[in-house]
This record gives sequence, C-alpha cells and structure tokens, in this order.
Amino acid sequence: MHRARILLVAWCALGGAIAERNAAAVERPTLKDAFRDDFLIGTALGTRQIMGQEPAALDLSAREFSAITPENCLKWALVHPEPDEFDFEPADKYVAWGEENGMFIVGHTLIWHNQTPAWAFAGVDGKPFDRETALVRIKSHIGAVVGRYKGRIDGWDVVNEAIDDEGKLRTGPVGAWPRRGEPWHAAIGDDYIEQAFRFAHAADPDAELYYNDFNEWYPAKIKAISKLVTGLKTKGVRIDGLGLQGHWGMDYPELAEIDHMLTEYGKLGVKLMITELDVSVLPPPDRSTDADITRRARGDAAGNPYPNELPADKQQELAERYAAIFKIFLKHRDEIDRVTFWGVHDGQSWRNGWPVGSRVDYPLLFDRQYQPKPAFDAVIEVAEPQ
Ligand code: GLA
Repeated sequence: MHRARILLVAWCALGGAIAERNAAAVERPTLKDAFRDDFLIGTALGTRQIMGQEPAALDLSAREFSAITPENCLKWALVHPEPDEFDFEPADKYVAWGEENGMFIVGHTLIWHNQTPAWAFAGVDGKPFDRETALVRIKSHIGAVVGRYKGRIDGWDVVNEAIDDEGKLRTGPVGAWPRRGEPWHAAIGDDYIEQAFRFAHAADPDAELYYNDFNEWYPAKIKAISKLVTGLKTKGVRIDGLGLQGHWGMDYPELAEIDHMLTEYGKLGVKLMITELDVSVLPPPDRSTDADITRRARGDAAGNPYPNELPADKQQELAERYAAIFKIFLKHRDEIDRVTFWGVHDGQSWRNGWPVGSRVDYPLLFDRQYQPKPAFDAVIEVAEPQ
C-alpha cells in the first residue's frame, strides 16, 4: 500500500477508536448521577490540576463529581507560608473552577500539626509558644483564609487529626511518626478545637464546619470523637459534620467495622462524610492502618508487585471491595452527606509514594489514562443494579 494511504487508514482507525471511546464515555452513567439521591460524590484536586496543567483531569472531574476538595493548596504551609505572606493564587482558581462547574466546594484544612510552617509554632521574643500567641495566630489565619472565601467555600475541615488511636488528644511537638504531637494543643490546651470552630464560624457564619480524622473505626476513637462532637454541640459551638478519612486497604478496615462506625457516628446528629477515600491494592509494609503522612517504610520489589499494570484478577478484587464498601455507604445514606475520593485518577494518588516511596498503586476508580476501571462499574452497579 502507498505510504500516504497506510497513514490515512491508520488515522481513520485511530479516529474511529477515539470516537468509540468518547461515545462510550457519553453513554456511561456518571458517579454523581448514579448517587444523586444518596450523597454527593467528590474528588480531591491537586495543585497542578487546579492550575490548568492537566486539563483532562478537570474535564473528568466536571463530568463525574459533584464536590471538590483541594489536596494541598489550602493547607497552612501552602496558603500562608510566612507570617505576612499568603499565596491565594491556586485557591482562588480552585474556588472559581468549583463555582463555574456547580461543585460543592470544600476547604481543607485549617488547623493541623502537619503541613504547617515552623513559624506558626514559634514563640515570640525568645519566649515559649504560649496560649495567647497561639490563639492570636489561629484567629488571624482562620479569619484571613475563611474570610477570603466567605459565601463561596461551602464547608471547612476546621481541625484535622487531633485525636490519637487511644482516644487521647494529641499534644507536644510535632516530630516524625510515631511521635505525632500537636503543638496547638500543647500551647492552648484542651479548648483549642472549640476555639478553632468558633473562629471559623465568626469568619463565615454560613459555612459548614467539620472535624476530620483517620482510623475512626477504632473503638477508642469512636468514643473520643463522639464525646468531642457532643461537647461542642452542648456548648452551642457550630459543628456540622464529621469527616471520615478513607485511606483504606484491601483488608482493613473490616466491613463490619465500617458499618459499626457509621452506625455509632450516625447517632450524633451531624452529617457524615467519607472525606479521603482510596483503597490501596499493595501489600502494607506493616500493620499500621493510619494515614499519617510522616510515616515512612522501606520497600522491596515484593512490595511493588504491579509496576506495569494491575492484573485482571486484582482489578476484580478491588471492584468487589469497592462494591462492598459502597453497599455499606448506601445503607447509611440518610447520615452520609458526601463521599470524596482522594484524587481523580490512579496516577495522581499519594498512595504511589506513601508509606513506601516509588510504588505503583491503583487505589481509585479511574486509571492513569482517565478511563473507568472495573471498580467504577462495580460502584455504579451498587447504585443502579441492572
Ligand atoms: C491526610 C490529610 C490529607 C492528605 C492525606 C494524604 O489524610 O488530611 O490532606 O495529606 O493525609 O495525602
């Protein structure tokens, strides 16, 4: 065949394949539609995506999701790196994109021990970091950030990861895992959470306010977090919801533990949100189930078994795990307000680099080419059984 003709035939075939794929994309149900009567379906946008450097991820997000959370750009270290310096550019774009696309817009996160710059925890004039300094600092940070997006960001994760696995408030200097301290508590005392919620409410009286954490199915945490929510409500401090991070694995938490946690928290009379869902298919390096970003573990080739692609039987196992999890979510649909995936597609996921660096994980519903995986079909099937 003449070379030009070969090229033409190849071009038409490629065009046909793309058209077919696009047609399939148009016909297939979307996550947000499938769960429209149940809860919002959210995703987390990375700063590259927000800044327009990965348009395909934004297109997919606009199509599939009804809520957004920023992966990083509203964390203290990124938005407020120096005492008198804010970087609102990515957050401004994030909020504007959310508005243009009719999203429920989440702010994440105001008060946390991680991704907070050292200056925020430093004492003044050589004195130790004390209550007064810390209160002034959180008040002005929250006032500036929440105030800027008043009436535009719908809900805020006010405090992140304040309670340890034994149900105690974290305290002390930050340190690396397992010394997970909480300088805000160390300086202010037990009421720092209440203070943060009060400041956030004052900065935007219409915004919803949430407490967010991991390992929330641990019995000691169920008790402590329930007490925290009830305590705030009793004092008349606004708290609208509980964010349940979902950085889970193939065998943890057990389905019964998810069910039990939702039942228990469901009694509190606040909205429940699965805020950071991703299910790692890789072998966990140890028995930890947390999402502590400072935890690091070593890995070898056995810990990275699918460097090129996820085999079909593993895809199927992931699909079944996701279906089982979503069945429980649907059972609790009256209490669950939103289910947010931590990332748009596998290629973006932090789980490729944590807790073991440089692995290839497959924890989300869309693959690295933005295509739905068997887990996507399985989740849709839970909402719309054929
Ligand atoms: C925690 C935080 C998130 C994010 C994840 C890991 O769950 O709440 O903001 O940092 O860890 O990416």
